[in-house]
This record gives sequence, structure tokens and C-alpha cells, in this order.
Amino acid sequence: MPFAPLRFPDGVPVLTDGRVTLRPHRLDDVAAVVEQCRDPETLRWTTIPLGYNTAMGTGFVTEMVPEGWGSGAEHAFAVEVTDAHGSPRYAGTVSLRDVGAGRADIGFVAHPAVRGDGVTTSALQLLLGYGFETLGLHTVIWWADQGNWASRKVVWRCGFTFGGTVHRWLPERGEYRDGWVATLHRDDVREASTLWWDLPTLRGDRICARPFEPADDDRLVEGGNDAAVQQWMPSFPSPYGLPDAAAFRATTLDAAANGAAFSWALVDSVTDDLLGAVGVPHRSDTGAEIGYWLLADERGKGYAREAVDLVVDHAFTPRDRGGLGALRAYVRIDEGNRDSLDVARACGFEMAGAERAGTVRRDGTIADMLVLERVNPLLGI
Ligand SMILES: CC(C)(COP(=O)(O)OP(=O)(O)OC[C@H]1O[C@@H](n2cnc3c(N)ncnc32)[C@H](O)[C@@H]1OP(=O)(O)O)[C@@H](O)C(=O)NCCC(=O)NCCS
Repeated sequence: MPFAPLRFPDGVPVLTDGRVTLRPHRLDDVAAVVEQCRDPETLRWTTIPLGYNTAMGTGFVTEMVPEGWGSGAEHAFAVEVTDAHGSPRYAGTVSLRDVGAGRADIGFVAHPAVRGDGVTTSALQLLLGYGFETLGLHTVIWWADQGNWASRKVVWRCGFTFGGTVHRWLPERGEYRDGWVATLHRDDVREASTLWWDLPTLRGDRICARPFEPADDDRLVEGGNDAAVQQWMPSFPSPYGLPDAAAFRATTLDAAANGAAFSWALVDSVTDDLLGAVGVPHRSDTGAEIGYWLLADERGKGYAREAVDLVVDHAFTPRDRGGLGALRAYVRIDEGNRDSLDVARACGFEMAGAERAGTVRRDGTIADMLVLERVNPLLGI
């Protein structure tokens, strides 16, 4: 059964928390709606049609939105905030789409000018209050393309419980993408109740550590099949194929969101070409293990050292400043891997000991894993 049909715009409620207001869309929103719908981030994460223009924006405001209210299929509000000059401005659209039996699908997009300011979080709090208290909803579901951290953070702040990743489910521009899903029930507390983890982009001088992209796959396969990588990283599939690269990329996002492990594509700051990978293969409340490998043609240029410094710095940054808050960072290196030991020592890691029989090499021989560590300088010990 759809939501109760309401007359647009007179029947649409106006909701406000004093800073952010939800109200019916108006014709003078069209220019800002078009800007928002031509924005690359909007296009990347939504099914909004490409080539968005004024006619489409006008159709959205004067036909699509009113029809949703009139039929009860979707209740979409314009978000309004006050700009720096004290004038009200359109800041986005948030909506609840009826999916039956007291359940609704939540959708939202922010105008680029207001992003990162908490406006969407406030708008969703108003929308959720309306959905649960006025519409009498039981459950609200959120779907997003896997990797849409901004969207995930907003619903995390609103108390949604993350349900996992659904593979090849969300139809988008001719393909089916992996989707993240989360729900909020009417009895849930509408604030974050778990720790927040993500995979931020870390920027160095010559290099950058960012989430993996599908465009990295060819170089990832090249690196995965490299003789030294195969020799010293026995857990890598052999041979390493394109499906292995895609599977690895997908697991990196879920592992990061759980705070269990973090893997970054190591890329050239200017060209964005893949140089290798760097990461935290294991994180605990006290320690962050650091791992790294480079493509053969990128070795000997100091990139590994820069990458390790970047990730250790992130690991040692306190949690309330977006880091991992690790007390110690450590590396575990096969006793025969001299090149990797050189990198670790150059980055200030000191020998802590050896894990006896810590690895089974690809040829079946057993070797020790040397453990080198650094203690977080912020601890002052
Ligand atoms: C998703 C979206 C609506 C969020 O709007 P917003 O106004 O930036 O939201 P907020 O300011 O309330 O919060 C966003 C949070 O995500 C964080 N964030 C943004 N990008 C991020 C990223 N790549 N990784 C991690 N966190 C990120 C922001 O820093 C902010 O957190 P903070 O408040 O702790 O700094 C906006 O980014 C958008 O319009 N994106 C395109 C459309 C879209 O993705 N819609 C959702 C489809 S499911």
C-alpha cells in the first residue's frame, strides 16, 4: 500500500531544525537541481541520467516530484539552507520511496556547494522523523554503490545498521553493480552506535595511496604475477588473473569498513598510474601491520619508503583525527627477503624478533618471519 496521497505543494509539510529545512520543490530550484545533476560525484553514484539539462530539471520539479506525492509512491523534499550571505538556497533532495508493508527506500543527493557540512545528515534526520513518526514506517532501507563512503557515513550517523554487500544487484547505466545495504528500524536510536572506519586517500609528494579502481586491474595483474611478488607473498593466487584483481578490490572495501584491514592502490600523484600496493593487512586495538609491494619497473625509486611512511603516519594518527590510532606499527618479513627488510629499516622499523616457522613458502619450505616494529611517537615512550 503506497503512502497516503498528498496534494503538491500545499499538502507537503515543511520540516525544519532551525538550520536545515525540508520543503516542496519550486520552479526556482531548477538551476541548482541541474548543477547538482551534472556534478561528477552525483553521476558517479546515482542513476540520474547523463546530459542533465534545464528541461529535465523542470520536468523533475513540476512533474516527477508532484506525481510522487500525488500517487503516494515517493515523498521527495527539497533541502534548503541559508547561504553565507544570509539568503536561503536549494541544498539537495531527499526522499522516501514506498516499497510496501511499512517499508521505504531512502534516497538523497546534496548540491556540491553544501557537501561536507553535515547538511545531508540533518536533512535525513528530519526525513526519518517524518517517515517513522508521520508516515508510520517500520523500516527504512538504504542502498548505495559499494565504495560510496560519503553516503555510507551519512546513514551511519543516522543510526543505520550495515547489512553487507550484495553482489551485482544495483542496475546502473547498463551494468549491475555491487551494492551496500543498511537498514534503520523505527525503534533504533537515530545516531551512530558503532565505530567509523573508511579508506581515505593519503597524499604524499610524489605518490598517493587511494582506494583501488577497476582501471588499476591490468597493472594489478602485472604486479601480482611478478616473480618477486609471487616469491615473497605466497598467499597471492598463481597465476594472478583479472578475476583475482576484481575480487581483491571488492574485499578491500569491506575489510576497511570493518576496520579489519586496509589496502590502498599506490599511484603516481600526477599520472595516477599504479605503482604497487600498500596497506595494513591486519589491524587490532593496539597494532597495525604494514605491507607493501611495487611493480618491477617502479623499484629503486624510493616509492616503497614514501608509501610506508604515509601509511605509518595514518596508522599513528589518533582515531578522532581520522587515523587508525595504532600504538605500534610492525612488519612481518620472510627472513630471505632482503629488499623488503631494507625498506623497513629505512623507515625506522627495528628488529623485535622472529616468528619461528612463520611462513610456508610457495615451494613448500618453511621459514621464519622477521618482525620489525615502531612505537607510536605520540606515546612518548
Ligand atoms: C552522499 C552525499 C549526499 C553526502 O552529502 P554531504 O552533505 O557531504 O553529507 P555530510 O556533510 O552530512 O556528511 C558526509 C560525510 O562523509 C564524509 N566523506 C565524504 N567523502 C568521503 C570519502 N570518500 N570517504 C570517507 N568519508 C567521506 C565527509 O567528510 C562527511 O563526514 P564528516 O562530517 O565526518 O566530515 C553527497 O556526497 C552527494 O550528493 N553525493 C552524490 C550523490 C550520492 O551519492 N547520493 C547517495 C546515493 S546512495
